[in-house]
Amino acid sequence: MGIGCIDLVVGARPNFIKAAPILRAFRDAPVPWTMRLVHTGQHYDEGMSAIFFDQLGIPAPTAELGVGSGTHGEQTARVLAGFEQYLLQTPDRSRGVIVVGDVNSTMAAALAAVKLGIPVAHVEAGLRSFDRSMPEEINRLVTDAVADVLLVSEPSGTENLAREGIPSTRTHYVGNVMIDSLIHSLDAARALRMAERLDLPANGYAYVTLHRPSNVDLPERLDRLVRFLNSVTKRIPVVFPMHPRTRQRLEEQGLIRALTAETGMHLMQAQGYLESLGLMSSSLLAITDSGGVQEETTFLGIPCLTLRPNTERPSTVIQGTNTVVGDDLEKALGCVANILDGRYKPGVPIEGWDGHAAERILSVLEGTWRLADHSS
Ligand code: UD1
Repeated sequence: MGIGCIDLVVGARPNFIKAAPILRAFRDAPVPWTMRLVHTGQHYDEGMSAIFFDQLGIPAPTAELGVGSGTHGEQTARVLAGFEQYLLQTPDRSRGVIVVGDVNSTMAAALAAVKLGIPVAHVEAGLRSFDRSMPEEINRLVTDAVADVLLVSEPSGTENLAREGIPSTRTHYVGNVMIDSLIHSLDAARALRMAERLDLPANGYAYVTLHRPSNVDLPERLDRLVRFLNSVTKRIPVVFPMHPRTRQRLEEQGLIRALTAETGMHLMQAQGYLESLGLMSSSLLAITDSGGVQEETTFLGIPCLTLRPNTERPSTVIQGTNTVVGDDLEKALGCVANILDGRYKPGVPIEGWDGHAAERILSVLEGTWRLADHSS
């Protein structure tokens, strides 16, 4: 019996970066797989979606659900209903669904599939911030609870899943596909010479990304963060590519002018993958609330200050270059001073963050889904 079709679901910016190496590994498998790509449409702007497909060499999706933005309930419901319809109507029944990361599309697609009796593999399973006020934490808990194959990206993931009673036979440490993409694209990203084009001193500026609701949706917090970034700019130039949500909030609060008043502050639209990686890789330090940036800076050995009270990626702190500064912006300024003085932890490599995670995912699914098919 053949393997049938596998569906890989993507919806938002970080999903595209994680999907690209998986698609490549399955395309190049010795015995080919029929892989269909489903784009939920959670992110839809050219700069949030199409540019990533283009730069990462991702083929056009087999299906687009066009769910767009909305409240959590609306968006989740649209993916759930849309993906269920897709699975019911597609001429070749899905043999398995791969979901990646922790966005609303991840959780909703996993739920739709398991309710139809289709097995789910979750890439980046087991991450826990232990902070249920974070929408992604709910998505992670639900996705891992229903997934059949849990593909773990960082050491804490295995422990977290064991603690939740998930049998070890379903858990596989495969490493980090985000780093697969980074390694694959680093030369192309550097070739863009982004810092030079923006007149920024190589290895002499801070790279900033902020988009979490807990930072940008609360007016008082956003106001404090703007003042913090202005203080950083007094020490070192800052480049700040803005997620549309962040730009919207800054505009609503009239804070764009306060930011641009500082010389040395370079505000930009959301950037493509290569531009972002190019800017990050030649920065002196990163300031972020993104999960991906915490991992990428750890791999690159660049100091990273995380403006969140916790992280679901503790190895970036324990082994890597990340410091979780939470609400303590004085501490963050102290870290910036230390980094400028050359006093900051260097970090050590993390197991499986080596450019081959997608190949290990392929091998796990060869051993579960493909073998199960042959034995049935
Ligand atoms: C989502 C994920 C978050 C991830 C982030 C990466 C959830 C709960 N959140 O957050 O985990 O880190 O993506 O970017 O799934 N918007 C646009 N154009 C777009 C997409 C969004 O303008 O193409 C604006 C809309 O105003 C929208 C807002 O951004 O309401 C938020 O988008 P949404 O996908 O709901 O959440 P993100 O903040 O992007």
